[in-house]
Amino acid sequence: MKILVTGAAGFIGSYVSRALLQRGDSIVGVDNFHQYYDKKAKELANQITLDLANESQGTYLFIEADIRDKNAMKQIFEEHQIDKVIHLAAMAGVPYSVKDPHLYMDVNIMGTTVLADLAVEYHIQNFVSASSSSVYGNRTEVPFRESDDVNTPVSPYAASKRMGETLLYTYHHLYQLPVSCLRFFTVYGPLQRPYGMVIQRFMKQIDHNQPVSIYGDGSMGRDYTYVDDIVSGIIGALDANCPYEIFNLGNSNPVTVSEIVDTLEEVMQQPAERSYIEAPKTEVSITYADISKAQKMLNYHPKVSFIEGVRRQWEVYKTMPQWYKDLPW
Ligand SMILES: NC(=O)c1ccc[n+]([C@@H]2O[C@H](COP(=O)([O-])OP(=O)(O)OC[C@H]3O[C@@H](n4cnc5c(N)ncnc54)[C@H](O)[C@@H]3O)[C@@H](O)[C@H]2O)c1
Repeated sequence: MKILVTGAAGFIGSYVSRALLQRGDSIVGVDNFHQYYDKKAKELANQITLDLANESQGTYLFIEADIRDKNAMKQIFEEHQIDKVIHLAAMAGVPYSVKDPHLYMDVNIMGTTVLADLAVEYHIQNFVSASSSSVYGNRTEVPFRESDDVNTPVSPYAASKRMGETLLYTYHHLYQLPVSCLRFFTVYGPLQRPYGMVIQRFMKQIDHNQPVSIYGDGSMGRDYTYVDDIVSGIIGALDANCPYEIFNLGNSNPVTVSEIVDTLEEVMQQPAERSYIEAPKTEVSITYADISKAQKMLNYHPKVSFIEGVRRQWEVYKTMPQWYKDLPW
């Protein structure tokens, strides 16, 4: 099986690529090392995958390219007999999407269109695409179900992710492209995206003896999902070959911001100074996944508890070189 993984040098993409390698798949990984966060962090993640490829049954070919570049993408489909696509490349991160909404629309919508066109042209057997819990907007009725209304995204990022789902539905409708859109709920774990992610930011703030900056009163909840669990859901969807489905991939067990700080204090064995700041309008009060559909159809059963996941992230963080610890958060 040959699988194109877009965003392969990113946080989730590098984990997925390694999991596929370990089961003997052949992967073509694409990424443009976008400078949204430091390229060095992506090169590091990608190098771990390249090293693993040397001792795995599977193969990993990495190509530095932009998913919006139609010619470059077409050449990849033409030369590599791709069977399935896992599309993770995106401008991720909510706050930056307010600063540069055009870039988010360009990459997340136009880039996805390039890949969907090629997936049809080259008769791809399954197109698995990353969506996000952010499509639920500022919903307070929990848990979130795939059938809930998602017409009120509160950031350009969320709007672009919802558009990705609807765009791919159109390709399924017109050309019978098999599609699964996966709504990830805040993903964390070692080498988590270093910029704009709360656990990573708090870990670094505590490690640098700086106060942790908490939005609002600390009661906001996020359904933190450990990266290995997300990967199991992605591979479940890859193997399931659904005609068109949307799945929540979460942990179904939200954690408040105050609880994150408590957990970090326990794991890092270091007290945190808490400072409270006003939450931006792009922040929602809670995310909470109903995962019964993915449990039933993808055999998705998240296993890693929040404290265990944070512990694993801290254990790896401690071993990282200083430049990594000093990356902007
Ligand atoms: N991490 C989370 O909590 C989370 C939650 C919901 C959804 N998602 C989605 O999951 C996917 C992966 O997220 P991540 O956390 O690994 O982020 P990430 O930023 O680490 O990975 C995305 C990768 O896409 C690459 N990329 C960006 N623009 C590109 C382009 N034009 N061409 C080629 N590559 C490009 C980036 O360089 C990056 O390596 C994204 O689609 C994101 O929207 C992530």
